[in-house]
Amino acid sequence: MRLGARDPAKGARAARQVGGDITPVGLDVADPQSVREAAASLDRLDVLVNNAAILYDTWQRGVDADLDQARDALETNLLGAWRVTQAVLPLLRAGPAARIVNVSSGAGALHDMGGGTPAYRTSKAALNALTRILAAELRGEGILVNAVCPGWVATDMGGAGGRPVAEGAAGIVWAATLPGDGPTGGFFRDGRAIDW
Ligand SMILES: NC(=O)c1ccc[n+]([C@@H]2O[C@H](COP(=O)([O-])OP(=O)(O)OC[C@H]3O[C@@H](n4cnc5c(N)ncnc54)[C@H](OP(=O)(O)O)[C@@H]3O)[C@@H](O)[C@H]2O)c1
Repeated sequence: MRLGARDPAKGARAARQVGGDITPVGLDVADPQSVREAAASLDRLDVLVNNAAILYDTWQRGVDADLDQARDALETNLLGAWRVTQAVLPLLRAGPAARIVNVSSGAGALHDMGGGTPAYRTSKAALNALTRILAAELRGEGILVNAVCPGWVATDMGGAGGRPVAEGAAGIVWAATLPGDGPTGGFFRDGRAIDW
């Protein structure tokens, strides 16, 4: 298994913490050259989890948001996932039953979208759209593409009070290991469909 991280020291530390057969690989999803190099270092890939995200901008409002921050959020949260997916698609296509998991957020759901947190929310709504598009385009090749919200998790982004990381990650593992007749183009939390 490969674990992508833009800071090699953090990648090595995370790989040690998770344990097992995990090799850290340098990966900055916002840097096309880094993405190309990371993809070139792989000889096989069965599952891609697009997890990297930034800028949970609870301090902002859409009416006067800093658009440089909105651009940064889109660069990582949307284009990063898109860029990495394109780069590794030949490897995914070469395997028998690849899976793509876009780690999204209920904050990007449109059905109950309210004000605030505009950079993050628009980037996750766009990631959800990308999920639908890729799922439709890859359905015929047996590649399942889904968006997963991990719920509120006690990470650097989520802060104290969220659920343990293992609980949030379980729904991502579920989507990464779906059987061939599993869903594609869906939005899930804890293995259950949620509204877009
Ligand atoms: N925590 C929650 O409650 C929650 C809720 C809903 C959805 N999510 C989603 O869950 C996913 C994981 O979030 P988290 O809570 O673990 O956030 P986090 O604690 O802020 O971690 C985000 C990770 O993304 C990495 N990253 C950021 N930009 C990157 C880039 N350009 N290239 C490569 N890696 C990059 C960060 O690396 P550095 O360490 O180098 O900064 C960090 O390891 C995200 O997609 C987030 O939107 C989280």
